[in-house]
Amino acid sequence: MVIRNICCIGAGYVGGPTMAVIAYKCSDIKVTVVDVDETRIKAWNDEDISNIPIYEPGLEDIVAEARGRNLFFSTDVEKAIDEAEMIFISVNTPTKTYGLGKGKAADLKYIELCARQIASVAKTDKIVVEKSTLPVRTAEAIKSILDNTGNGVKFQILSNPEFLAEGTAVQDLLNPDRVLIGGEADEDGYVAISALVDVYANWVNREKILTTNVWSSELSKLTANAFLAQRVSSINAMSELCEQTGADVNEVAKAIGMDSRIGSKFLKASVGFGGSCFQKDILNLVYIAKSYGLNEVADYWEQVIKMNDHQKRRFASNIVKTLYNTVSGKKIVFLGWAFKKDTNDTRESAAIYVADDLLNEEANIAVYDPKVSEQKVLADLNYLGTRSSEVNEERVIVSEDPYEACKDAYAVAVLTEWDEFKTYDWRRIYDNMKKPAFVFDGRNILDGEELRRIGFVFKSVGV
Ligand code: NAD
Ligand code: UDX
Repeated sequence: MVIRNICCIGAGYVGGPTMAVIAYKCSDIKVTVVDVDETRIKAWNDEDISNIPIYEPGLEDIVAEARGRNLFFSTDVEKAIDEAEMIFISVNTPTKTYGLGKGKAADLKYIELCARQIASVAKTDKIVVEKSTLPVRTAEAIKSILDNTGNGVKFQILSNPEFLAEGTAVQDLLNPDRVLIGGEADEDGYVAISALVDVYANWVNREKILTTNVWSSELSKLTANAFLAQRVSSINAMSELCEQTGADVNEVAKAIGMDSRIGSKFLKASVGFGGSCFQKDILNLVYIAKSYGLNEVADYWEQVIKMNDHQKRRFASNIVKTLYNTVSGKKIVFLGWAFKKDTNDTRESAAIYVADDLLNEEANIAVYDPKVSEQKVLADLNYLGTRSSEVNEERVIVSEDPYEACKDAYAVAVLTEWDEFKTYDWRRIYDNMKKPAFVFDGRNILDGEELRRIGFVFKSVGV
């Protein structure tokens, strides 16, 4: 079976870049990305390519090449479903904020809506691909909805989780470590699997395309994120011990990372991991384990989250302690608000929680991030509901100029590892700050020795 027409429901951080790369690499496949969010679709279609809604290095060029040729963005979900042979579901699957499983389980309401819409619209057989990260055995629920509410056409469900990381999405999509496709182990299942394998084989070596049963594929995605997040929590746990013992976490990470069994990646101590995936997917794993009565398994993974919460809180309280136990009325500058560099995404960013703790201590916060707007910063804080939006607006300012932000500040805190922070004129910053001038490097990116020479009191994580 040869695929000529693909639809993707969800034009977010995964659907947008993933489909842009498929269209870019497969010029004979028409790819339509649909979303209910009109503003987002409008931005994807903006004539000025720099206005596309997601910032990822290299994405503008890919979209510019494919858009209008075989890549389309639309709000007409039904038309796109009707025309496609293969439909990717790439909608959000946040942690439930209500009812059973509140605070842990994945909220699958958007997935169910998609399944029902596909079932009601489809007049020809379809391959439905789970691109969203889903709890193991979700395909069963999707199949049940499709088969029981559809128009008698046949559906095949594939699981094809996405492993891209934000900030490197385009490179990850162009050169993936692997592509994972799970499907049913019968003849129709094999036909569907090989149709999707053939799409990826346009640019990915077939040896890197793994095929498995659906449940292994669904569970592998949660497992991969749990293992990655666990490494960050493990090194962050050691960072606290380093601070007490005179060891240097950067040296420890280098020493253990050179063991080829451990490997050097994902060992950077930090203010704590953020992003839309790690916490949500581990909580989901914890919920699934508990629902099977596997309490020890659940507790084991939950500790990764607890360690991360501790690391964020510890960073904030260290600022308060160092500033003579009070930050009340003091201006503290946040360099960076995004959850990592090279993205405009702020979901679950450590910066939000550190700011919330410091605002509880009555600090004034000035934020500078090269890709995050004032509106987003305030929305993130308001979402927590810790205090009124008026108070947040009063106490938090977002600056477009880092030097302006640092003027008259008591302390600068680095929350995101944007490269540009390393190139600043730190003497100029020092001259304009209150003394003693403090820098808290939550990403271990600045040259501490140089900053101390200038006169700063410099603190990093795990040193
Ligand atoms: P996102 O919130 O950026 O995008 C999801 C989009 O789906 C939104 O624009 C929303 O309007 C749209 N949507 C929701 N319901 C819809 C419906 N019924 N019809 C049409 N559009 C609908 O989310 P994301 O970051 O792209 O994540 C999507 C999925 O991919 C999640 O399951 C996530 O866990 C997974 N994932 C994310 C990443 C990542 O780095 N962000 C990486 C791998 C996997
Ligand atoms: C993650 C997975 O890496 C990706 O495979 C999956 O598809 C989605 O979730 P993402 O959340 O986009 O990707 O970014 P990632 O690079 O994993 O970083 C997550 C968080 O961990 C960031 O806040 C980052 O700063 C932090 N981190 C990462 C560290 O603190 N130290 C590290 O060594 C690595």
